[in-house]
Amino acid sequence: MARHKIAVLPGDGVGKEVIEAAKIVLDEIALDAEYIYGDIGWEFWCKEANPLPERTIEMLKKADCCLFGAITSKPKQESEKELMPELQGKGHSYYSPIVGLRQFFNLYANIRPAKAYPGNPLNYRDDIDIVIFRENTEGLYSGVEFHPLPEEIKSALLKHHIKMKKFQDVPADKIALSCRIFTVEGCKRIIRKAFDYAIKMNRPSVTVVEKPNVLRETSGLMVREARKIQKDEYPDIELWEANIDAMCMWLVKNPQNYSVLVSSNMFGDIVSDLCGQLVGGLGFAAGANISDEYAVFEPVHGSAPKYTGQYKVNPIATLHAVRLMLEWLGENEKAENLEEAIALNIKEGKVKTYDLGGISKTLEVAEDIAKKYKKI
Ligand code: NAI
Ligand code: MG
Repeated sequence: MARHKIAVLPGDGVGKEVIEAAKIVLDEIALDAEYIYGDIGWEFWCKEANPLPERTIEMLKKADCCLFGAITSKPKQESEKELMPELQGKGHSYYSPIVGLRQFFNLYANIRPAKAYPGNPLNYRDDIDIVIFRENTEGLYSGVEFHPLPEEIKSALLKHHIKMKKFQDVPADKIALSCRIFTVEGCKRIIRKAFDYAIKMNRPSVTVVEKPNVLRETSGLMVREARKIQKDEYPDIELWEANIDAMCMWLVKNPQNYSVLVSSNMFGDIVSDLCGQLVGGLGFAAGANISDEYAVFEPVHGSAPKYTGQYKVNPIATLHAVRLMLEWLGENEKAENLEEAIALNIKEGKVKTYDLGGISKTLEVAEDIAKKYKKI
C-alpha cells in the first residue's frame, strides 16, 4: 500500500491543465502515493445540479488530503439557465464547491505564502517573504445573510440596539444584512496556528490585521485574544497590530517589514490578494486550507476561461500548492527540493509562460521544473 493517499480534483478550465502539470512534477518526485481523481465543478452542476457530488465527499474522506485545481462559477440566473433542461425549475441553487469543501471539512486555516523569488521580473521588491493566516470558516463569509430583512430579525435588532433606530422605517426589501460572526474558539485557533508557524519557522513577529477601533466587538475580540495568547503562550514572538486599511498602505510601502499576518476571513482574503500581486500575481499564488485533520491545497486563481484549452497559464501557483502539500505530508526534503527547482526555473527565466513575457506552455514549464528537481 502506498504511504499517502491523495485525492485530486482538477475541476474546470485551466484547473485541469495546471493539475496535469502538477502530475508531471509529482511523477518526477516519485512520491510514494496513490492518486484518486474526483468530480467537482461546473460540469457537475450542469449535469447533476450539484457541483460537489456526494461521491466526491466520500472519496475525499478516504484520502489523507486533497489537491484541487480550479472551478468555474457563474451568477444566479446564468447558473439556472445552464442546468440540463430536466433539472431546471426544480429549485436547485448553485453554491461554491470550494467554500463547501472548506465548511464540510472545517478547514479553518487558509495559509497563503507570498515570497519573492530572485529573478522574477514581476516582483514588487525582491525581499518580500510574508505568510498570511486567514480564518476560513467564520466572519463576514459565514454565509448568514438576509434580503429582504425578516420582520423578526428587524424587531430583535430594534429592541437590542439604539443605532438601529435610523433604519426603523426602511422597508424590508430595501435593506440587506450580512452577519460578521466571530467565536472565541474560531479566533484562538487561527491565532495559535499563526504563532505556531512563527515559532517553527523562526519568524520574528505576527501581525494581527483587523479594525478594532470601528468593529469593536468582532475585530476587538480577535485582537484581545491575540494579545492574551501572545502573552501567555508565545512571549518570544512579537505581536504587532495593524488596521486593515492602514495595512494595505504599509504593504505597498514597506512589505519587507512584515512576516506572518493573521486575519479574519474577509480581511485575510483582501490582504492575501494584495500580497499575491507583490510577488508575481495569480500565476504564483497558492494556498493551503487546513483543519487539525485534513487539508486541501490549491492555486488561488480560478478557471481562467479566456485561456482554457490553450495550455498557456503559469503552473507555478499549483506547484507551490504541491510543495505545501508535501510539507503537510511530512515530506520535507521533497518539499525543499521542489521549492529549489521552482526557484531555479524563475531565476534562469528561460522556460516561462506569458505572464512572465515568455512563450512556453504550461506543461513545458512543469517539465523544466521536473528536470531541475531531478538534478538537485
Ligand atoms: P481567474 O483567476 O480564473 O483568472 C483571471 C485572470 O488571471 C486570467 O484571465 C489570467 O489573465 C490570469 N491568470 C489566472 N490564473 C493564471 C495563471 N495560472 N497564470 C497566469 N495568469 C493567470 O479569475 P476570473 O477570470 O475572475 O474567474 C474565472 C472563473 O473562475 C469564474 O467562474 C470564477 O468564479 C472562478 N474562480 C474560481 C476560483 C477557485 O476555483 N478557487 C477562484 C477565483 C475564481
Ligand atoms: Mg480571493
